[in-house]
Order: sequence, then structure tokens, then C-alpha cells
Amino acid sequence: MQAVLSESEQLLAEIEKADSLVFGVPMYNFGLPAQLKAYFDQIIRVNRSFTFDPDSEEVYQPMLANKPTTVIISVGDGDLLPGGPKADLNFLEPHLVTMLDFIGLRSVEFIRVGYEEFQDERLRVAFASAEQAVARLAASA
Ligand SMILES: Cc1cc2nc3c(=O)[nH]c(=O)nc-3n(C[C@H](O)[C@H](O)[C@H](O)COP(=O)(O)O)c2cc1C
Repeated sequence: MQAVLSESEQLLAEIEKADSLVFGVPMYNFGLPAQLKAYFDQIIRVNRSFTFDPDSEEVYQPMLANKPTTVIISVGDGDLLPGGPKADLNFLEPHLVTMLDFIGLRSVEFIRVGYEEFQDERLRVAFASAEQAVARLAASA
């Protein structure tokens, strides 16, 4: 059993040791890439990163200590980002926030780059703004 869980343990230990977390996430088919979903399937573990008590009022409780978490998102079509005309099709961000919150990571900030597939002025503006946000984040660390 220990061998089966060793990768999960290693990934959780990485999170526990870190002062803050940074995820780089492209949107794939309106959600997260399969590889990243597999990562979350390793770190969201009963009695390790959340508790499950069917008799409690709060059936699920997070177990990880909260820490600053930055998610840098890249999407082909920036209209899918919050406030955009296709934002209702953005399943990536609510899914990520729900999974992180579920295990206790509740201070999530997004840095977003839109319009990667359009390669136009909107992408240039999005890059410049994301770079500034990353620089601010690095300066505050
Ligand atoms: C398999 C796949 C699915 C994608 N699905 C979407 C999508 O649903 N919406 C979108 O805006 N962009 C989509 N894109 C574009 C990517 O989000 C965008 O190009 C991103 O910058 C790719 O990052 P990567 O080069 O790290 O994979 C998709 C790209 C790939 C390869």
C-alpha cells in the first residue's frame, strides 16, 4: 500500500513544504488538461488532505494549511475569461478553485493570458499585464 501511495505522498509533501504555490495551466477543451487532473487525483486524498465524516454536519473538511496559491492560466480564446462573452463556458477556473478549496487552499489568485490562438494585439496586452502581475507577485514574495 505504501508503495502505491508514494507518489501521492511525495506530491503532498511538496505542497506542505512550500511557502506558496504556483500552477501554470492551459485551458484544454473548456477545462483542465488531463495531466493536471491526474495530479489533483493524487493530492486529493481522504484522511490525508481532507476528512470524510458522514455523521458530521460538515461531511468534508480540508486538512491542508492554507497558503498563497497563484494560478497562471493561458487560453486560446480570451472571450472565455471572466467577464468575457463566453465566460459561462469556462469550466477550468471553477473546477480548480473547487478542488483547491476542498483541501484547504483557499487563497487563490489568477493571472490570466487570453487570445493565445489569435496572436493579435489582445494577446500582446494580455501578456504585458500578466508579466506585470507576475513581477508584482515575485516582489511581494
Ligand atoms: C488539446 C487542446 C485543447 C484546447 N482547448 C481550448 C479551449 O477549450 N479553449 C481555448 O480558449 N483554448 C483552447 N486551447 C488553446 C490553449 O488553451 C492555448 O493555446 C494554451 O496557451 C496552450 O498552452 P500549452 O502550449 O501549454 O499547451 C486548446 C489547446 C489544446 C492543445
